[in-house]
Amino acid sequence: MRLLALIYAEDAFYEKVTLDTGMARELTREEIAAMRRSYGQAGLEALPDDPFVAFAQWLAQAHDNPMIVEPNAMVLSTVNHDGAMSARTVLLKDISRNGFTFFTNYQSRKGLAIHSQPKVSLLFPWYAMERQLIIVGEAEQISREETEEYFATRPWGSKIGAWASRQSAPLASREELQERWDGAAAKWPEGCEVPTPPHWGGYRVFPHEIEFWQGRHSRLHDRLRYERIITDGSAEIKWQIGRFYP
Ligand SMILES: Cc1cc2nc3c(=O)[nH]c(=O)nc-3n(C[C@H](O)[C@H](O)[C@H](O)COP(=O)(O)O)c2cc1C
Repeated sequence: MRLLALIYAEDAFYEKVTLDTGMARELTREEIAAMRRSYGQAGLEALPDDPFVAFAQWLAQAHDNPMIVEPNAMVLSTVNHDGAMSARTVLLKDISRNGFTFFTNYQSRKGLAIHSQPKVSLLFPWYAMERQLIIVGEAEQISREETEEYFATRPWGSKIGAWASRQSAPLASREELQERWDGAAAKWPEGCEVPTPPHWGGYRVFPHEIEFWQGRHSRLHDRLRYERIITDGSAEIKWQIGRFYP
């Protein structure tokens, strides 16, 4: 079973998973209640002083693990002007200048939420490694130059998609989206330079807290959290590490 799962995960690198929805059946309440895994013995004794060093190690391990699909996928949670929360997956695209960067549509639901409340959280769900990593911090738009530099590296279809999608707005039909895509593709045919849409760009999240969670036996999990120490006037960022009940 484990071997099969491994083979499927390896295949996932090369082709998309096909969902056989015809085979779906309803789970019983007992089956849902009984869903649990027993976590391993691997502990989290100590972490490096710098949380970015620790994060880079965990990301590299997730990247090298064939069981982890989309190791850089993270759940971004935001709060809007009314205090309503929303969450969605985005892809981590850079770790630099003491922050974590992702790209999106600035006019999207998340973009508007960040505009009114920059405090966000990012969650990496690396379940196959019995790990979870949660970042809490503040999101800030990155510079236009940085956005344009990244946009230029995207495949042509993704660039056209960024022009075609009015992300988060109601859409009457699939055809309407296709028409908008066809229109943008006709304007900037493959091979020609596609400008960066003004409504599209990156956010960098500056963390206040970074929590490393490692599953242990009998639910005695390890939780180590870096908390940023506010220092007056000093540009140097300092962190303290604490251990928390699971
Ligand atoms: C694996 C995965 C990766 C995604 N990456 C991004 C991303 O990097 N940027 C983005 O804007 N949306 C991404 N999405 C789509 C978002 O989850 C979401 O549907 C979209 O951004 C609209 O969110 P909003 O209406 O809450 O703003 C991704 C979805 C998945 C499942």
